[in-house]
Amino acid sequence: MNVADSELVEGLLQKEGYLPAVNIKNADAVFVNTCAIREHAEEKVHSQLGRYNLIKKQNPDMIIGVLGCMGQNLKDDILESRPYVDIVLGPDSYRKLPEILNRKIVNQKSIVDTKLSRFEVYNDLFPSRKKGINAWISIMRGCDKFCTFCIVPFTRGRERSRSIASIVAETEQAVADGFVEITLLGQNVNSYKHENEDFSKLLMAVADIKGVKRIRYTSPHPQDINSELLEVMATHDTICNYIHLPLQAGSNRILQRMNRTYTKEHFIGLVDYIRDVLPNVGISTDIIVGFPGETDEEFEETLDVMKKVKFDSAFTFKYSSRPGTKASEFSDHISEEVKKERLQQVIELQKKHTLERNRESVGSVETVLVEKESKKSSTYWAGRTDSNKWVIFDKGNAKIKDFVPVLITAAKGVSLHGDLVHQEEAHAV
Ligand code: 5AD
Ligand code: SF4
Repeated sequence: MNVADSELVEGLLQKEGYLPAVNIKNADAVFVNTCAIREHAEEKVHSQLGRYNLIKKQNPDMIIGVLGCMGQNLKDDILESRPYVDIVLGPDSYRKLPEILNRKIVNQKSIVDTKLSRFEVYNDLFPSRKKGINAWISIMRGCDKFCTFCIVPFTRGRERSRSIASIVAETEQAVADGFVEITLLGQNVNSYKHENEDFSKLLMAVADIKGVKRIRYTSPHPQDINSELLEVMATHDTICNYIHLPLQAGSNRILQRMNRTYTKEHFIGLVDYIRDVLPNVGISTDIIVGFPGETDEEFEETLDVMKKVKFDSAFTFKYSSRPGTKASEFSDHISEEVKKERLQQVIELQKKHTLERNRESVGSVETVLVEKESKKSSTYWAGRTDSNKWVIFDKGNAKIKDFVPVLITAAKGVSLHGDLVHQEEAHAV
């Protein structure tokens, strides 16, 4: 989401005639687009700001701006502890940036704007995208779910969605600009609602655009996965056979305390249903360990759900207390040692499951989108399957952005290895 927002800000500034600096030391302004989801993300911003301050000491006219979720949430802290910060803008105030920059140039005082909006979706602004494979397209902003651990509803405000027409227009432009993969983005992507249109309608409209090769979306909430959505996925080849389905925890008491609105039984049933409608679908998840009050037995239930579902991959986190959220007020926080130990267990189990799931693909031929050179060797490409698995294979005649058939020969670590098949045909794809 922040990459997409930074592209939006860059597009906005370029329209006003600002250009990216070649070297940060000579920049007139530096903006840090910040994330507040966990303490670790905030720590990274603080150390980054410290580094920019050193540069500012050499170049005192340089403007330093803090954008995004930390700006929204921690504006007073930032202004007090970092007086060298000139501009603080929340996620709904980017549109004001050019005007504020002009004001700031003639005025020495710090400028802050963190008013959240019920309407701002930046519908009419076109992001400045670096050339590449994937275009991020923001379709909705904000979140109304209020999971008790999460700061997003406070930093990004209420849910609001763009019109299908504006999303289709932006996708058509991205396709014309050479992007082969489109990722529809939202804090709660499948609670998209514009007038009477829902997420499955939008997905269908995007899938029908001529020239769109691959469509992904992130991040959905299990509560808003419905049969219409799965039907659209099943009937459109361009929509990737992949769903990110955040579990968060496996105990019903913890899920309820998290305000996740589903039980573990419902979650497992949903996975079974998804796998029925979408055979060979890739399913990933998010898991938080050490939520306040989580007992050893309740943590075991998370491991148990993982064993029942066997996710293809998982993003795993230690619970991080976010001031202002309901969970931060709970009195039964878990020690750092216990969180660390639980995280290790979750990681180990997931590694095993990823390998087991990946082994199921060995012997099959997968369509892989060539994305980049493998880190392993300059003679290998790395690309993803429809189900979001990385495959490493000999370059042959394939080029970046090609869709090529690859015979999967092995599963190692978290990726697949394979060989290009029918190279002449692959070249022509
Ligand atoms: N602590 C740890 N993880 C969190 N997430 C959100 N808030 C927190 C928090 N306070 C995780 C959730 C979410 C993902 C984007 O980040 O798993 O799905
Ligand atoms: Fe945060 Fe996602 Fe829950 Fe919204 S649905 S509160 S963004 S974890």
